[in-house]
Amino acid sequence: MAFTLWFTGISGSGKSTLSQRLCDAIAARGLTVERLDGDIVRKEYAGLLGYEEKDRRINIRCLGFVSSTLNRHGIVSIVSAIAPYRVSRAQNREKIENYIEVFCDCPFEVAAARDAKLLYARARRGEIANFTGLTSPYECPECPDIVVHTDTESVDESVRAVLEHLERCRYLAPK
Ligand code: ADX
Repeated sequence: MAFTLWFTGISGSGKSTLSQRLCDAIAARGLTVERLDGDIVRKEYAGLLGYEEKDRRINIRCLGFVSSTLNRHGIVSIVSAIAPYRVSRAQNREKIENYIEVFCDCPFEVAAARDAKLLYARARRGEIANFTGLTSPYECPECPDIVVHTDTESVDESVRAVLEHLERCRYLAPK
């Protein structure tokens, strides 16, 4: 049974790291799996889609569409995209038959201190408009299927929590 595993959270909250690890773990169990990562997909937009609310809504809607299409063909889809708006996430939950939302819960200060891509520093200097958590909202999920606390858990612990949920809900056979 194919499904969509959607990692949501602010920039630097661990979405891409966890989604890659889950992708490897799920592939190792013999399932066909594809990753859709916000940073990678956005390269294809070549700057035509930005970070205004309308553009983000289009991005999340399209990622949801592609993901559900992959699922229809038996491919597990792992999406890592901020998806800051509750309404956009709710629409995808409606449309995608097997939608599992993972909230990468990480305090703003922790993500900003990591700043692996140096975006927080640039945003603070006013060089990036509409930056999530600073000048653009992130609406925390109210009813995510899984919450991982990426400031206090190790990557291995978070991966295990997701795999256990998938097994409990019978998306994956127990190992
Ligand atoms: S979403 O809001 O439309 O879901 P998405 O996950 O695709 O966002 O892209 C977020 C990535 O774009 C971030 O990880 C970061 O690398 C980059 N980025 C560039 N500008 C911004 C911005 N203003 N706000 C957030 N992320 C940004």
